[in-house]
Amino acid sequence: MKVGVLGTGVVGRTLADRLVELSNEVRMGSRSADGEAVTQWASAAGERGSAGTFADAADYGEVVINATAGMRSLDAIGTVDPWSVDGKVLIDVANPLDFSTGALKLSVCNTDSLCEQIQRALPGARVVKSLNTMNCEVMVHPEIVPGDHVAFVCGNDEGAKQTVADLLGTFGWPAERVVDLGGIEAARGAEMILPLWLSIMMKKGGGRFNFALLGG
Ligand SMILES: NC(=O)c1ccc[n+]([C@@H]2O[C@H](COP(=O)([O-])OP(=O)(O)OC[C@H]3O[C@@H](n4cnc5c(N)ncnc54)[C@H](OP(=O)(O)O)[C@@H]3O)[C@@H](O)[C@H]2O)c1
Repeated sequence: MKVGVLGTGVVGRTLADRLVELSNEVRMGSRSADGEAVTQWASAAGERGSAGTFADAADYGEVVINATAGMRSLDAIGTVDPWSVDGKVLIDVANPLDFSTGALKLSVCNTDSLCEQIQRALPGARVVKSLNTMNCEVMVHPEIVPGDHVAFVCGNDEGAKQTVADLLGTFGWPAERVVDLGGIEAARGAEMILPLWLSIMMKKGGGRFNFALLGG
């Protein structure tokens, strides 16, 4: 499958590496198609990897992943031609964390979410929030955390959520551990868990943990 990965940070590179390892063809997108991070990734990835702008990567992918800095995701998404992603599944893994004051806070929450903002910016895309509630190593190798921990999905398109669950299955996520939270408004909760996640990470001194659901 062709996947467009928007984002050259550790998350974009980790997802892109795993997708290439699993024989997908990946175009990584950046603000500049000849930026150092994106061109270095593409040359290391080999024949299944390529570099482009955010718009190029979104146009290329049958599935598109937003792994840009959450506070800047709308700027990145704003460079994408909305027609180029019509009908495509767009997986939003970004978190709108606002580190500007040193406090743990989100730039959008309660009555809206970054995921909903992206859906409004790209109305023809089938946007699914997923994987934002865990470290990127856990995203692509769930087996590194013991136990029946989970990956959440939410969005308005049932078929899109199934496509994401299937893709997560290739990463090693059993279907029963992909938990559907419902419509896209549920992304508010998935994003608002991040201050809790960060507090745990800072106390533990690392990100190799995840959330699990216990009980009926
Ligand atoms: N770290 C984790 O394990 C983890 C886990 C779950 C979710 N997340 C979320 O995943 C996302 C990516 O995190 P990350 O640490 O890999 O990378 P990051 O440093 O948060 O973001 C890097 C990407 O954001 C783009 N970007 C930065 N400023 C921009 C601007 N003004 N306009 C447009 N694009 C801009 C960069 O573009 P260029 O390529 O042009 O530099 C780059 O592609 C974040 O939203 C984060 O909250 C992270």
